[in-house]
Amino acid sequence: MNAHGGGIVHHSGTYYWYGEKRGGTESQGVNVYSSKDLYNWTFEKLAFSPSDDKESDIAWGCIIERPKVIYNKRTKKFVMWFHLELKGQGYAAARAAVAISDSPTGPFKLVDSFRPNGHMSRDMGLFVDDDDVAYHIYSSDENYELRLSKLTLDYLAPTASDKLLFRNHREAPALFKYNKKYYLFTSGCTGWAPNKAELHVADDLFGPWTSLGDPMRGPDAQITFDAQSTFVLPVAGKKDAFIFMADRWKPKNLLDSRYIWLPIDLKNGTVTVSWKDQWKLDVFK
Ligand code: GAL
Repeated sequence: MNAHGGGIVHHSGTYYWYGEKRGGTESQGVNVYSSKDLYNWTFEKLAFSPSDDKESDIAWGCIIERPKVIYNKRTKKFVMWFHLELKGQGYAAARAAVAISDSPTGPFKLVDSFRPNGHMSRDMGLFVDDDDVAYHIYSSDENYELRLSKLTLDYLAPTASDKLLFRNHREAPALFKYNKKYYLFTSGCTGWAPNKAELHVADDLFGPWTSLGDPMRGPDAQITFDAQSTFVLPVAGKKDAFIFMADRWKPKNLLDSRYIWLPIDLKNGTVTVSWKDQWKLDVFK
C-alpha cells in the first residue's frame, strides 16, 4: 500500500484509508484504499492529485504530507486537510491546505492553502469531537510549538480560536478521546529518523496538557518501534477500542515505507502501546 502519514474515516460501513502517495521520494498526491474489516484493503483511487497548472499551489513538485479526511454531517462533504509545501521551496512554506469532495474516494478539489491565522503549519492532524466540532492540530514556529485551531462549521477554514498547546518541539500529532479525556501522541523532531514518543492528556482540547511520558512498551519502545505516530483509529462498533497507527519511514525510497498498527492498551486507567508481532481485533472486548 502506498498511503503514508495517513488517516482513516469510517463511513456507511466502510473504512477509507487516505495517505501520501510517494514515488521514490516524490510527492504524488493522496491515495485512498477501502476496507470493511480492517484486514483486507482494496485500492480505490488517487483521491487527490497535484496539478498540471504550474501556477497552482499544488503544482507537481509540491510536497503533500499527512493527509487527513473528516466527514461533515452538516454539508455532507468529505473534507481533506494536509501539510503543503510549495514547489521548489523545500519545507519553507509551512502551509495547511484544504480540499473537498462529495465522495469518499474523491476526486478532492483544492479549496485553499494558507498558514492558519498566520502561523506556520507542518505536521498536522484533525479531530472531530462528540459535538461534531472539528479541530486542526499542527506543529508551528519551526515545529517548536504545537497549536490547535477550532474549524468553521463547514470544516473548510480555521477560526480565530487558535491556541498554543505547548512549546516542546514536538510533531506527528495524533489525538483521541477516551473516558472524557483527550490524549495526544507526538514524536520528537528528527526528520524521518524515529525517536521517543510522548503522550499528553487534557480535560479540555485547548489544555492545559500534561505529559504522561513515553507510552511505548517493548523492544525499540524508546524509538516508537522504529516508527512515527500518524493517527489513532477508533474501531467502529467497539467501545474503548483504539488503534495506534505509525509510519516506519524509508527516506531513500519513501514509497516502500511500512506501517505499524498496534492496539492501545487501556488497562488499569493507564494508556500504553505494547509491541506485538501479531494481533487480531479480538484483543478488543
Ligand atoms: C518529519 C515529518 C514528516 C516529514 C519529514 C520530512 O519530521 O514528521 O511528515 O515532514 O519530517 O523530513
